[in-house]
Amino acid sequence: MPKPVIIDKSAGVLKVTLNRPDKKNALSMEMYELMSAGLSQAAADDSIKAVLISANGDSFSAGNDLEDFSAVNKGAVALMELPTVGFMKSLMAFEKPVVAAVQGMAVGIGTTLLLHCDVVVAGRSAIFSLPFTQLGLVPEFGSTYILPALAGKVCASQVLLLGESFGIDKASQFGIVSTVCDDAEVAEKAMEKCLGLTALPAKTLRDVKRLIRSALNPEKLNEAFDTELRLFAQALKSDEHRQALAVFFNKKP
Ligand code: COA
Repeated sequence: MPKPVIIDKSAGVLKVTLNRPDKKNALSMEMYELMSAGLSQAAADDSIKAVLISANGDSFSAGNDLEDFSAVNKGAVALMELPTVGFMKSLMAFEKPVVAAVQGMAVGIGTTLLLHCDVVVAGRSAIFSLPFTQLGLVPEFGSTYILPALAGKVCASQVLLLGESFGIDKASQFGIVSTVCDDAEVAEKAMEKCLGLTALPAKTLRDVKRLIRSALNPEKLNEAFDTELRLFAQALKSDEHRQALAVFFNKKP
């Protein structure tokens, strides 16, 4: 059985590759655990200068595995027990540069996590989506603070309130994507960015990353993070969410 996340190291780069293409790289609990382990490994190893998050298959990620949300909805597990929260906290606190390589769909946390990466390379046909309201959920992990700060209030509202998906032009305009290229070139361009980072002094990169992070008010970010998490936990147990899950799992239009 292939691992759903492949971790490997080359040329000073730790590569975290989502490897569940048959499920569009929907992120399961095991995948978050493997990704967290990858970040810990990268943090502890001085020879690793950058992390590359990429995905096998035609999609970057279809978001959180809805089976796990269903388990929370049924009361079988609590949101805080899911390794999602731990992974996102690690990513948000991670000191070394993180590059993401995006092709195809980036849904839900597949887009949210990009807001916490440093360089985002995406193919021209990439589609981004934050469909939380359509699922009876609220956005997550600081996105209700970060996205309005990046994209402006009405642009953020259109994608967060309506849950409208958007293409590469809007993603660039919003400031979610930093480099756009042909779909076939995503992996190569993202690796180029990583290798550029590995050639630079590690401490300087850490200092500059910390300074860039401080452009967003950390207190407001933490406040949004905590409030979103509280509302998300409530929403996961709601009837609205239960109905949205039923639609997905019954494949109704
Ligand atoms: N959780 C669990 N399984 C998922 C999933 C998710 N988030 N996204 C996709 N899958 C599964 C599908 O159930 C399907 O499984 P099956 O082959 O056993 O039936 C497989 O992945 C392929 O997905 P499919 O829907 O057939 O692909 P598609 O190309 O028609 O559509 C998406 C791709 C991403 C648009 C669609 O799968 C989708 O909307 N997924 C849910 C996205 C979502 O709401 N994520 C949570 C955000 S908070």
